[in-house]
Amino acid sequence: MQKYGVNELRRMFLEFFESKDHLAMKSFSLVPHNDKSLLLINSGMAPLKPYFTGQEIPPRKRVTTCQKCIRTGDIENVGKTARHGTFFEMLGNFSFGDYFKKESIAWTWEFLTEVVGLDPDRLYPSVYLEDDEAWEIWNKQIGIPADRIFRFGKEDNFWEHGSGPCGPCSEVYYDRGEEYGCGKPDCTVGCECDRYMEIWNNVFTQFDNDGHNHYTELEQKNIDTGMGLERLACVVQDVDSMFDVDTIRDLREHVCRIAGKEYGKEYKTDVSVRVITDHIRSVTFMISDGILPSNSGRGYVLRRLLRRACRHGRLLGIEGEFLVQLAQTVIDGSKDGYPELEEKKDFIFKVITKEEEQFNRTIDQGLSILEGLEEKMEKEHTKVLSGTEAFRLYDTYGFPVDLTREILEEKGMKIDEEGFEKAMEEQRETAKGTFGETNYMGADVTIYESIDPTVTSAFVGYEHLSWESDIIVLTTDDAIVDALSVGEKGTVFVKETPFYATSGGQEADRRFNRTKAGVLEVADPIK
Ligand code: ALA
Repeated sequence: MQKYGVNELRRMFLEFFESKDHLAMKSFSLVPHNDKSLLLINSGMAPLKPYFTGQEIPPRKRVTTCQKCIRTGDIENVGKTARHGTFFEMLGNFSFGDYFKKESIAWTWEFLTEVVGLDPDRLYPSVYLEDDEAWEIWNKQIGIPADRIFRFGKEDNFWEHGSGPCGPCSEVYYDRGEEYGCGKPDCTVGCECDRYMEIWNNVFTQFDNDGHNHYTELEQKNIDTGMGLERLACVVQDVDSMFDVDTIRDLREHVCRIAGKEYGKEYKTDVSVRVITDHIRSVTFMISDGILPSNSGRGYVLRRLLRRACRHGRLLGIEGEFLVQLAQTVIDGSKDGYPELEEKKDFIFKVITKEEEQFNRTIDQGLSILEGLEEKMEKEHTKVLSGTEAFRLYDTYGFPVDLTREILEEKGMKIDEEGFEKAMEEQRETAKGTFGETNYMGADVTIYESIDPTVTSAFVGYEHLSWESDIIVLTTDDAIVDALSVGEKGTVFVKETPFYATSGGQEADRRFNRTKAGVLEVADPIK
């Protein structure tokens, strides 16, 4: 079998489905559009939900994509094993009320065995328990012997993620050989070990979940398939894990070069190398989609990934900032499929640098305080850090609590979580006491309450129609931020402004604000 690279496999997949009349669409942004059930796009089908439900008309009834995805549910395990990661690419072919099981299964088989050249004797399909139709297709149409087709229940072979379209599925497993197995006598397809690797999932999307597990039959029957590109590459290149496939190995080796370490020699080193390798991929792609570090939502996921990467850099003994160099390697490895990475390079680097510098300052201070606390705990023969101390570290010094948790865990210690929660609650109460639940005007407390009250804007509109000034504060609806990205809404405070703001009935000015970084559309000048 030829050992195709990640970029080749991506092209091969899209071209194959183009030859079957599919429209190859660009990966959608990691930021979901009109979908409150998801923080980040986590599968090929997620951005296509409206096409499945019939809410929107797809550009063609057959579509194929390679979608950038992020799943952070398992973030704690990333690094500890070579199987977990937060970023991956998902290959998929989709039918919106067009072809169904017969075609989809046939093309799955054709792509794997004829285009990629996987050995058919190593492939095992599975179907949903009651799905005789899919079973028959594998058996009669494709010719897979009955004893090689597995039937699994809802847990394995029914696909759904959040609300929306879902349905029974049929997966394809690849037998990587005994050397990957657990050696148990009953080890077979479906075993938790690394031998039988699930590579492709065909979902027969026929239901809609309203988010409360009420299922309704969709008017049109659809196909949603998903194959992790990194996993496919792993099988094709016959390597142990996704950290060993061509482009990701280059990145991993780059981490090692910066750290002056060798991969595969020591467990602890490997954990940190894998965390950084995985996280910098997520970080680079997230920023390219306009996500910026913040303390809530997606911005927090980004901040957490970036900070975890920084910290593992420290664990490896890396001094100073190092993430931008790695982002460059991510871009080099992936720009073939995602040209926007190259286009947004400067922006990506700027965001990473700023956050990394800021975090390094926070972390130095926090780490030394935490070390002091650990010594104190050892003297006092306790393995539990008091909630008050953990909270002080978080609240006063800005040291992330999950980091405190992780660092302590590595040493067999922990936080008194209840105490921490209590301290947090007390702080909330105090804050309430200070501000009340509403501000002095009786309106809801907004982010503006957190802005330094000495910040003011001078009105120069009587003398000037346009004016150049500096931005002094930027906010989104819920946070003070360093930057706003394309499409984001927020509030801009400038030193001087010619904009006439509404105060009691007059018409406010509506214009555009041009800055070095872009153009802002002014929606609502307020006093
Ligand atoms: N949406 C299906 C999955 O992610 C194909 O596995």
